[in-house]
Amino acid sequence: MQRSEAMNAPPSSPPLSLADYELLAAKCLDAGPWAYFSGGAADELTLRWNREAFDRIALLPRVLNGGPGGTARIDLFGRTYAHPILVAPVAHQGLAHPDAERATAMAAAAQGAGMVLSTLATTSMEQAAAAGETCRWFQLYIQSDREDTLRLVRRAEAAGYEVLVVTVDAPVSGVRNREQRAGFRLPPQLVPENLRGLAEPHPSPKPNLDSIVFEHFMAMAPSWRDIAWLRGVTPLPIVLKGIMAADDAARALDIGVDGIAVSNHGGRTLDTIPATIDVLPEIAAHVAGRAPLILDGGIRRGTDVLKALASGAAAVMIGRPIVYGLAVNGAMGVAHVLRLLRDEFEAAMALTGCASVADIGPHLLRR
Ligand code: FNR
Ligand code: LAC
Repeated sequence: MQRSEAMNAPPSSPPLSLADYELLAAKCLDAGPWAYFSGGAADELTLRWNREAFDRIALLPRVLNGGPGGTARIDLFGRTYAHPILVAPVAHQGLAHPDAERATAMAAAAQGAGMVLSTLATTSMEQAAAAGETCRWFQLYIQSDREDTLRLVRRAEAAGYEVLVVTVDAPVSGVRNREQRAGFRLPPQLVPENLRGLAEPHPSPKPNLDSIVFEHFMAMAPSWRDIAWLRGVTPLPIVLKGIMAADDAARALDIGVDGIAVSNHGGRTLDTIPATIDVLPEIAAHVAGRAPLILDGGIRRGTDVLKALASGAAAVMIGRPIVYGLAVNGAMGVAHVLRLLRDEFEAAMALTGCASVADIGPHLLRR
């Protein structure tokens, strides 16, 4: 729909890296969806820092650690994955390709990658789960009405989802100047299927409010009390996504949260917050192995995955590169993006002397 005919044509030179997919996606997508997917908040400093911070870290390899039995496998929340690269929740994938999250779920399953489905997916959670057996994590935006939140949770449980990823860093939309300049608006036919039929999916602000931020958005925003409530109503493991401070991570664990996603929403919410890889070590030190940490934001190379694990992450998620693969070549594009990153990661493990993820540690980093 938002795509030019170039989209399904093979690229003139085949994409060899995630950056190649970004360049191709910029050509495939119309200006509005491109601004939505690629943009960040305000001056996009956090968006840039996420990348720059990885580039500033050098790797210090160890040699002569060859031998049989090497693997990138990880165990997470009761499942074994072939590698630690997960698909991040990204809303409205129908903007990138008509097959939307069904294609992403198929590709993730084919590549053995865990997938987190957004509350705001174009595809329903039932259809996405049916499309790929690794699409078993549901990203939950807590709704203004608790009954609605509970409905989403019960549906996710019934559809076989195994982990709830509760995103807590976006009670108010970021200042998305790039989107505004491109005049981006969600096409009305792209309704988030998961929210259909809920009592109050998007309550609109009352007229004449003095502050839309405080009197509308923050008045219905979730709080720690909602997380404690959620902990009591579902047996599923809960991962809080959007934690950037060690004291928030500790508070989450104290109320029974099972995992922490260190994330700044890919630089899309509050601008000028730090790069995720820069705050990960202090969060890891504070959490001290009590719960798995998952990192996202700016991961584009296998060496970035290695740096994240060496800094204390159990796994990583990638957001934009997935939708770029989807825009360029549907499920095949997403599968190729995941394959490229996994192959790069395994090469980086081998070249730093790691035969398993347990061998990856801070001794490999020069900050
Ligand atoms: C997101 N992200 C996101 N996060 C979330 O919890 N729920 C959501 O619906 C969305 N939607 C969304 C849309 C788009 C277009 C993007 C780019 C991102 C954030 C996402 O899960 C992840 O945190 C970042 O994308 C990670 O950064 P990179 O890999 O894109 O640099
Ligand atoms: C975004 C919201 C949907 O980042 O999370 O666009």
